[in-house]
Amino acid sequence: MSPIDVEEDTAVISAHWREESYIRPAAQFIAQANLTDPGVFERFSEKNFPECFREYGAMLDWDQPWHTMLDSSNPPFFKWFVGGKLNACHNCVDRNLQKHRNKTAFYFVPEPEGEPVVSLTYQQLHRRVNEMAAMLREFCGLKRGDRVTLHLPMTLELPVTMLACARLGVIHSQVFSGFSASACAHRIADSGSRVLITMDAYYRGGKLLDHKRKADTTALESDKTGVKVEKVLVWRRRPGEYHSEAPMVAGRDFFVDEALAGCKRREVAPEIMDANDTLFLMYTSGTTGKPKAAQHSTGGYLAYVAGTSKYIEDLHPEDVYWCMADIGWITGHSYIVYGPLAVAATSVIYEGVPNFPDAGRPWRIAEALGVNIFHTSPTAIRALRRAGSDIPLQYNYHFKHMTTVGEPIEPSTWRWYWEVIGKREAVIVDTWWQTETGGHLCSTVPGIHLMKPGANGPGLPGIYPTIYDENGHELPPGSHTAGNICIRNPWPGRMLTIWGDDERFVKTYYARYSKPGSKDWRDWPYFAGDGALRAEDGYIRILGRIDDVINVAGHRLGTKELEAACLTVPEVAEAAVVPVPDDIKGALPEVYASLHPGVAAGEALAEKICSAIVEQIGAIARPRGIWLVPDLPKTRSGKIMRRVLTAISCGHDAGDVTTLANPEIVEELRALVRNKTAGGR
Ligand code: WT7
Repeated sequence: MSPIDVEEDTAVISAHWREESYIRPAAQFIAQANLTDPGVFERFSEKNFPECFREYGAMLDWDQPWHTMLDSSNPPFFKWFVGGKLNACHNCVDRNLQKHRNKTAFYFVPEPEGEPVVSLTYQQLHRRVNEMAAMLREFCGLKRGDRVTLHLPMTLELPVTMLACARLGVIHSQVFSGFSASACAHRIADSGSRVLITMDAYYRGGKLLDHKRKADTTALESDKTGVKVEKVLVWRRRPGEYHSEAPMVAGRDFFVDEALAGCKRREVAPEIMDANDTLFLMYTSGTTGKPKAAQHSTGGYLAYVAGTSKYIEDLHPEDVYWCMADIGWITGHSYIVYGPLAVAATSVIYEGVPNFPDAGRPWRIAEALGVNIFHTSPTAIRALRRAGSDIPLQYNYHFKHMTTVGEPIEPSTWRWYWEVIGKREAVIVDTWWQTETGGHLCSTVPGIHLMKPGANGPGLPGIYPTIYDENGHELPPGSHTAGNICIRNPWPGRMLTIWGDDERFVKTYYARYSKPGSKDWRDWPYFAGDGALRAEDGYIRILGRIDDVINVAGHRLGTKELEAACLTVPEVAEAAVVPVPDDIKGALPEVYASLHPGVAAGEALAEKICSAIVEQIGAIARPRGIWLVPDLPKTRSGKIMRRVLTAISCGHDAGDVTTLANPEIVEELRALVRNKTAGGR
C-alpha cells in the first residue's frame, strides 16, 4: 500500500465515526485509586520535562542514583536515568521481602481444572530465582551481557527464568511458545544465544502438547545459520516425569530440575547494572524483512512499567490482578511480570485457553482467587461475548478495574465488557501502546478521566501525542481527519534500539518526520505506524496499522514474513497476503499465490502453503483462505496492489483499477473468490 492509499482509507473511516457519550467511573473505584489528582498533568507537562520522570524513577531502589535524567545529545538514541545503577530482579523480588515476604507474588493456575492452583510467595520466588540464577551462572557459564533464548509456556518457570537472567544481567529473549521452531531459530541466531531454555510439554485446550520436539528443530536450524545452541535446558512440567517424544540429546540437553539439584539454597548477589544496560529483547514484526528485536533498558523500562502499573493499572499490593495475555508478548513482560512485581502486587498466570473446559472458566478463576483487576484483549472479549452473557452472571466475582489492549475495540464490544463482565462496577482503560514502547502511551487515567467507549484517551502523563498528515502538518484535535500518530517526546519505556540494527531503528521510527542532524529532541517525534484520530476532548482513537502489518487477535504479523513463508513452497511464483476483517480476531490473513507455469492448482498445494506458514511462523498465522491464482493485480511498475486484493477478499468495490498493468485480472479473481474455486479454501 502506498501512503496515499492509506490516507484515503483512514479518512473514509473517520467520516463514519460517531462520538460516543462519556461514562463516569464508579465513585468506589476513585475513592481508592492511586492517582486522582489532575495536577499530575501539570507536573508532567512540557515545561517540567524531562525531570517529571523523577516520580517514576523514585518508585525503584537504586544502587547508585542517576546524575542526568535524559541524555538527548545523540537523537534518537535517548538515554534515561544516566549514571544510575540498579538491578531489575532486586527491584521485583528482594526489596519486596521486607514488607511482603509471605504475600503471594504469583498464582499459577494450571489448565486442567483438577490440578491445584500454586501460590508462590515473594519469599519462595526469591528462593527459586536465586537457585536458577546460580545454575545459569555455574552450569551454563552465563554472565552479564550474554543473551539467552527462552521458549517457555505460561507456567511459573517462565518468570522464574526471566528474573534469574535479570539477576545476572543476562539478556533474556522469550519467544512466544506458540511460535514455531523456525521462528525460534531465527531469534536465536539474530540474538546470538548459546543457550535455549524450554519445557517438555504444557497443557492447552485439554491436551498436553509436546513442546520439547520444537527445540530439536530449533537447534538444528540455528546451527545451520552458524549460531550453535550449546545447551538446551528442559524444564519439566511435572518434575521427574518427561512428556515428550523427542529424546534428550546427550551432552546438549539437560533437565533443569536435575541441574538445579546442586544449587539448593544458593544465593546469588544481584548484578549491579547501568540504567541503560539491556534487560531483555522482544521480537516483533514490521513492514519489511524478518522480525526485529526491540531492545529494552533496565532503568527506564522498569521505572516506566512500575509507574504505569501504579497509575494506569492502578495496582496496589493488596490487589489480585489477572492479565490474560501470554508472557511471550510485551504485554506479559510489562504487565504480568515486571510492572506488577515492581509494585508488589499479586499476579495471576493461567496456563491455558480461556474457554477450557467451558466459557465459565475465567469467572471461576476470578471468583476462587478473588481477582479484582482484570486485563485482556478485544479478541478475548468478543469470544466470551459469543459464548453468552448469562455465563459471567453465574459467578460471584467483582472487578474494580479492567483493561483492554492490543487492537481497536468497537463501542458495542466495549459496552458489553463494561455491563456484563464489569457489572458496571469496573472502570475500563483502553491502553494503546506497542512492543517498542515498553508501556502504555495513550489511555484514560482511571481515577481522573471519564471513559468514552472505543476511544483510548489522551496521552499519559509525560507523553505528548500528536497526529500528522502525510506532509508532516499537525492535525488539530476535532478535525475529524485521520493521520499518523506520533509521540513528540522521548519517554523512559521506549526501547533503546533494534538489536544489532541501529539503522533500521532510525529508519522505521524516525525517518518520516524528524530533522536529521538536529540535536533537539523536539525534532525527533516517534512514528508509531498507526492511523489515528483525535477528538476535540483530546481523546485518541487508534484505527490500526498503516504499514504492512496484520493485527491478528492483538498479535502483529508482517505480511512480508507470511509471503516469504509462501515462497518457500517451490511451486509458488508470487504471493501476496492481505488482512481480512474477522468478527472475533479483528483480522485474519488471506493468501493470494500465483504458481509457476505448468503447475496445477489444487487443494493439496493450498494445504502445502498453509503448512509452510504454520511451520515457519506458528499456528496463530494460519490463513483464513488461500487462493491459487493465475496472476496478481499489479501496477505498471510491477508493484502488487494489495489494496485491490483486500477489496476482493472483503467483497468491496476495488475502486479505480484502470491504471493497473493487468486490470482484467480483477474480475477473474473476484469470480474465483466468489465461487471458491481453483484451489481456493
Ligand atoms: C499494535 C502494537 C500493546 C501491547 C500489545 C500489542 C495495536 C495495541 C491497542 C489499543 C487499538 C491497539 C496498534 C499497535 N494496538 N493496543 N488499545 N487500541 N490498537 O503490542 O504486538 O507491538 O502491537 O497493536 O496497532 O501499533 P504489539
